[in-house]
This record gives sequence, structure tokens and C-alpha cells, in this order.
Amino acid sequence: MKDMYILGIESSCDETSASIVKNGTEEIATVISSQIDIHKNYGGVVPEIASRHHVKNITIVLEECLEKANMKMDDIDAIAVTYGPGLIGSLLIGLEAAKTLAFVHNKPLIPVHHIAGHIYANSLVQPLKFPLLAVVVSGGHTELVEMTDHYHFHKIGGTLDDAIGECYDKVARVIGLEYPGGPKVDKLSLEGKDTYKLPIPLQDDSYNFSFSGLKSAVINLAHNEEQRGEKIRKADLATSFQKVAVESITSKVKKAIEEKKIKNVIVAGGVAANNGLRTAMKELTEEMGVELSIPPMKYCTDNATMIAAAGFFAYQDGRVADLTLNSKSQDILK
Ligand code: KG4
Ligand code: ZN
Repeated sequence: MKDMYILGIESSCDETSASIVKNGTEEIATVISSQIDIHKNYGGVVPEIASRHHVKNITIVLEECLEKANMKMDDIDAIAVTYGPGLIGSLLIGLEAAKTLAFVHNKPLIPVHHIAGHIYANSLVQPLKFPLLAVVVSGGHTELVEMTDHYHFHKIGGTLDDAIGECYDKVARVIGLEYPGGPKVDKLSLEGKDTYKLPIPLQDDSYNFSFSGLKSAVINLAHNEEQRGEKIRKADLATSFQKVAVESITSKVKKAIEEKKIKNVIVAGGVAANNGLRTAMKELTEEMGVELSIPPMKYCTDNATMIAAAGFFAYQDGRVADLTLNSKSQDILK
């Protein structure tokens, strides 16, 4: 088979990124322009500001990526783009750029679901093995996805309210850490002790999660301590919270491995960078004799490399869009 070079574009949240990947597995060049420093001032991503920055950055990021790869548009076989889910104004910028390039250079346009991207970040490290369970944990998602073959997704469960990353960021705010607080809570949790009692959410028979109760429990706990004139022990709260948050994920993963005869577990999304979750997943999969893959940190947070990788497998599955492709803020992975 002839080698296939895919140009991937990602702009669903606050990262503008372009990447070229060979055959869905080999990264050639990637450029990521992050807006974290801008949104930090507001304690979270401001959609209007994000989309304005995507407009400013997209052409520069695309040009830089081609330059870094020492390639021209003629060398590119197809264009893969995140069409959703995400912030609509942000998605539109990447999508319009992708459609324009596909039209002008007469290349196939491949629509990629953002979560498929996070899952296929793993194919840049090692081949996926089926039946597979993808644990998708990010600022916008907490999902368990079963895959029996390439590009065949079956969501078996997900959060009923907040995403785990969102919960981490809220807890960080309560502790007084700046956005994005998830990694900072993770780091702080290494220094504390599990002394605060917090409820493990949704210990039921489903594959679902719930994080709003846990979030409220942390907020109430901090308020109560304050009213009593006591200071919260920040590191202990981080440790106690992380323990419960991680346990709520691993208990459902264990159930899925048993019931779905899973061979390969992959952890994907920004929260896959979490130390507590990495350690717990490693212990669980070793104990159950299942293979675990977690992408390196640089592929865990939003990037276009994973979109270009997923684009290859989407293309093999016949998924090509025409120029009427629209972005979707919400869409089920299928
Ligand atoms: O996948 P991602 O970059 O963007 C989304 O698609 O949401 O994930 C970002 C989220 C943020 O909520 C961030 O706080 C969280 O992932 N995150 C972490 C860690 N690193 C990033 N949460 C907990 N522990 C970490 N080490
Ligand atoms: Zn993401």
C-alpha cells in the first residue's frame, strides 16, 4: 500500500493545532498554539476569545507545520479535521480552514470526532488490540467506549453530569489553584494524606459516572471549615479528592473488563496525564492480565497529531465528507 500522509487540524477548545501523520502511526510534524495563558486570567476558557485567537493563529500554525515537515500541500493525501464536539465558534475556524484546503487542493476531507482523536493518540505508540476499552477522561468528557474493531465505537457509559476534568478544575479553584487546575491538584495530592471523607459517587450497576455530587461535597467541606474559622488542609483535600475520583473510574473499568472480555485498555484525554489514575490503572490491568496503553503526556492533551492519526483509520473505514460538513458542539461517537 502506498504511504498516506494526512494533515490533521484541531481547534475544538483553546488549542490551535496542525499535524502531519504518516499511515496513522508515525508523527512527521506537529505545531500547537495554546491559549492557556490568555484564559488563565478568567479562570476558564472564554469561548468568544478562544475563537478570535483561532482565527489569528490558524494560518500561521498550518504554514509552520508544513515548513517543519518540509512538505507542500501536494505531498498531502488527505485532510482530517475535528468537526465536534467542542466550542462551536472554535470548531468552525479549524473546519473552515480544512474545507478551504480540501477544496483548493482537491484533497479528501475526513471528519474526525474529537474523542476518536483522543483514542487514536494511542496508535502513535502501539497498535490497538480488540476487544478494547477506551477510558476517555478530559475536561469535557468522561466516557467508557468499547471497540470490537477499528473505528467501531460503542459507548457503554458516561458521566451523568460534570466531566472529571471539569470537576478537577473546580476543586482546584476551591483550593485556590489557577486554571487549568487539574495538573496542580494532581501534583499537590502527592504531598497530602487521605484524611477528608468524601462520598464515592454512583456505586451502581451501570457504567456511568457522576461528579457533581463530589464537586459539591468538596465545596461544602471548604465552606464549613471556613465558617468554623479553620483553614482547609489543601494537600490533604487534594489527596482525598483524587483518591475518590480515581476510584470511581477504576471500579467501573474493572466491571467492564470482566463483562466485555477486554484485552486492551487505553486511557485517553487530558486527565490521562493524572498520576493517581495512571498508577491505579496500571495496578488494575496487571492484576487482571489485560494490556494497558496510555499515550505520552504530549498526546494526552488536545493536539492535531491524534486527529491526523484517527483520520487515517476513519478514511480506511470510508468516512469522507463533502464541503457541506458542519461543526457540531455535541455529537455521539459512532
Ligand atoms: O483533553 P483536554 O486537553 O481538553 C478537553 O478536551 O477537555 O483535557 C483538559 C482537562 C482539564 O480539565 C485539565 O485540568 C485536565 O484535563 N488535566 C488533568 C491533568 N492534566 C490535565 N486533570 C487531572 N490531573 C492531571 N494531571
Ligand atoms: Zn480533548
